[in-house]
Parts: sequence; structure tokens; C-alpha cells
Amino acid sequence: MRQAGRYLPEYRALRARHGFLELCKTPALAAEVTLLPVKRLAVDAAILFADILLILEAMGVGLEFAKGGGPVIHRPVRGRADVEALVRVPASAAVPYVFETIRLVRARLAGKVPLIGFAGAPFTLASYIVEGRGSRNYVHTKMLMYGDPAAWHLLMERLAETTVEYVREQVAAGAEAVQLFDSWIGCLSPDDYRSYVLPHMRTTFAALARTGVPVMHFGTGTAALLELMREAGGDVIGLDWRVDLGAAWARLGADVAVQGNLDPVALFAPPGEIRRRVARVLEQAGGRPGHVFNLGHGVLPETPVAHVVAMVDAVHELSAR
Ligand code: CP3
Repeated sequence: MRQAGRYLPEYRALRARHGFLELCKTPALAAEVTLLPVKRLAVDAAILFADILLILEAMGVGLEFAKGGGPVIHRPVRGRADVEALVRVPASAAVPYVFETIRLVRARLAGKVPLIGFAGAPFTLASYIVEGRGSRNYVHTKMLMYGDPAAWHLLMERLAETTVEYVREQVAAGAEAVQLFDSWIGCLSPDDYRSYVLPHMRTTFAALARTGVPVMHFGTGTAALLELMREAGGDVIGLDWRVDLGAAWARLGADVAVQGNLDPVALFAPPGEIRRRVARVLEQAGGRPGHVFNLGHGVLPETPVAHVVAMVDAVHELSAR
């Protein structure tokens, strides 16, 4: 996650010349950014350079990545009429550049490492489309959810349909695994997850199971939701660093794979400490099949690149059979 992010100097050099959306919409550049971490870090998979919010642009809500301030939706959805006004555009017309990037990356990787595509999960997309930006308390999102549940469910259905179609097209273009980001799901209680999110996640994962590629299900702040996330679906459950990987895996069951879960802030520590923390995560996974080493969330912008390299090297060395 955030493999290229903003911590790689090569990425920052490109960003000095191009806007973020411009990078995403120019397949030759997006492909180049996708490949940067593979060359620089020697990671075992490439992550498509795109954003979970791109697909919202074609719904007519007005997407902008404001300088320094994060993403902004200019016409947020606040009620039923707004939900009904969302524009329907096939993914192939909404984000053709994403699929072109995938084709270019696959050609340039030539099978060296697999390419992971991704999309936002319906709740996390809804949180942006309703709040209009990132949020701390998700007040507008929960107002819609609690105040007009029918409109909420309609919105979630629309976003789930969009997500399924978008991911299918990514796989058709060449994505070899896909991750659904439910990054902000941790703001919900288990009861609310069950009522307002779980049914939509079930239909989403059931549809994605038919793509034939592994599907990762990721969220943060999910210690209270893990069993429900498992029930929702996914071949791999992503764990953040707030849970013990071993204990979380025991709760989820051995028949599902897990991904995680080094604290991204650990990458600011000296390399010796990074290595100890990598060893601790691997120890909790206990060498069992079905552990994908990863950070518990994305690489932060100021992270020293040498420390990311130290982490990747430590994982390779300590997990070598
Ligand atoms: O190489 C990569 O960075 C992987 C591609 C990727 C991006 N966004 C590029 C990006 C991925 C997998 C994402 C996912 C994403 N986008 C998520 C889910 C992951 C998570 O962090 O929980 C979310 C919530 C978003 C929405 C989003 N996009 C935010 C909140 C921001 C601003 C905050 C930030 O980290 O900068 C973005 C912008 C964004 N998306 C950047 C990148 C590289 C930074 C843009 C820049 O160059 O200024």
C-alpha cells in the first residue's frame, strides 16, 4: 500500500512536473510510477499506481486532489436526491487510463512479479462521497446512515455495483490479485457494520470470487470487526498493527490468509529495530502458509527510503526457507 507514495524521490521529481490526477491519467507515467518500487525496493509484487477515488469522478461529484490538503469532493452526497442523481458510466469509459496502465505494466513486468490492482470498498468510498473529504468523526456519513437508511443502502448498492464492475475490468486488463480498501471502516461499531455494511460487502466479495484472482480485504482500526470482515469475504484479511498478528489469525481461522502488519511508523526507527520488529511479525505468523508480509497501513511520506529497503531485505532474509 502506498508503495510509491510520496517518500520516493523519483516520485517527487515526477510530481514536481505533473499533478497527481495527471499522473494517474497518463498511462505511460502511471506505469513508470508503478514500477519504481519494484526496481528500488525489490518488493515481491507491484501495486498499481492509481487511487481509490478515481472511479468517483465519473459519478459527477467533482473530484480534486487539492495541494497539500488531500482529496476533495466538490458536490458531496447528503440525501436521497443526491444518491439518485449519481451518474452511471461504465468503468471502461470512466477510467480507461487505469486499464491501459495495467496493460502497460504487465507488459513491462514480463512476469517478474505479479501486479496487484485495487479499489475502495463501498463504505470507505461512501465516507468520501458523503463527507466531501477525509473525516475524523464521519458525522455526515452516519447522519445519512441513521437518518435515512433506505438512501444509505441505495448508495451502498450503487457503490458496490461500481466496485465490482471496476475490479472485474482490472482483472480483465491483467491485474493478478486485487485489494479492497475499507480504510476507514474502523469508525463503526460491530452492530452498525452488521446492519449498514456487511450485506453489501457480502454481495461484493461473492461477485469478486468469480474473477478467479485472490482478493484481499483490508481495513484499519478493525480489532473489533475482524470476525465480521471474515464473514463478509475475501481470500486474505489485512491486519493493521494494533492487533497481534498471531492472535488475530487465531480469531479468523487457519482457512483464511492474513496480510500485515508492521506499524508504518516503525520504519522511522533505526534499521536494527526495524529488523527486530520484522522478526516479531514473522514469528507470530509462525511460518504457516498464507501469511503475506506487509505494513499495517501505507508508507508515510517522510519515511527514509533506506529504511524501507532494510525492511524488505529483512523480510526476505528472515523468511527464506
Ligand atoms: O504507489 C502508491 O502510492 C499506490 C497507489 C495508491 C494511492 N492511493 C496513490 C496516492 C493507493 C493504493 C491508494 C489508496 C488510497 N487512496 C486509499 C486507501 C489506502 C489508505 O491509505 O488507507 C485512500 C483512503 C485514498 C484516498 C487518498 N488519496 C488520500 C486520503 C490521499 C491524500 C493523503 C496522502 O497520503 O497523500 C490521496 C492521495 C494519494 N494517493 C497520493 C498517492 C501517491 C499522494 C498524492 C500526491 O502526490 O500528492
